[in-house]
Amino acid sequence: MRLRDLGFSKLTYSEIILTIRHGDAVNVAPMGVLLEDDKRLSLRVYKGQRTCELIEKGAVDCVLNITCNSTLFYDAVLNKSEISYYPSETVSSPRVRGCDAYVECSIIDVEDCGEYVRVLLKPQLIKVSRRMVKTHNRAEPAVIEALVCFTKILHLIKNNVEMAESLKERIKIFREIVYHSTRNKKLRMMMTEILDRAEKMIREKKAIDKH
Ligand SMILES: Cc1cc2nc3c(=O)[nH]c(=O)nc-3n(C[C@H](O)[C@H](O)[C@H](O)COP(=O)(O)O)c2cc1C
Repeated sequence: MRLRDLGFSKLTYSEIILTIRHGDAVNVAPMGVLLEDDKRLSLRVYKGQRTCELIEKGAVDCVLNITCNSTLFYDAVLNKSEISYYPSETVSSPRVRGCDAYVECSIIDVEDCGEYVRVLLKPQLIKVSRRMVKTHNRAEPAVIEALVCFTKILHLIKNNVEMAESLKERIKIFREIVYHSTRNKKLRMMMTEILDRAEKMIREKKAIDKH
């Protein structure tokens, strides 16, 4: 199995769930990955996140956990304690249970680029655990897009409330898409929670600014 067969591309970010270990600390977070060439991948990890902290401390490997399951993406941002791990075959970072495929990677270079670090990865093992064809639906991608907006709000709320407001409006649209396209209570609950948390953050920031 080649990286390209799994959908990795030089031009389009593949959104995966990254697990990383340093010492006893394990972290999980969604990340975008680009193909550098046939043998290497790269990440752009923004500073101030736990993932970046572990990389800067000297983490030597990570796992790209591949899934379209929006609940796993949600848990990786808002419910990390719900994520269940199991050991990898070639690296110290664990895999997330329930994913379709795993790419176990060594970290071969970390470049400081100011606001973020660029991390170069060398895959050690590609493991496909499920090769099922699934129909497309509108709800799961909408949840993941809402999470992207939410995590952006987390990082820019301090300095840019207007941008946070406009991202919150986008979350409302994604919530509408979810409510139109599924009766799945869990997906609907996750969208409500994402919107509630975004609104709460903005409300609290505005209250602080008033005083
Ligand atoms: C689909 C998706 C893709 C993301 N891609 C990136 C990325 O490429 N780089 C990054 O720094 N953050 C990215 N994020 C944001 C982080 O996942 C988010 O800030 C997370 O809360 C960081 O967790 P941590 O502080 O535990 O590392 C992405 C979020 C989502 C939902």
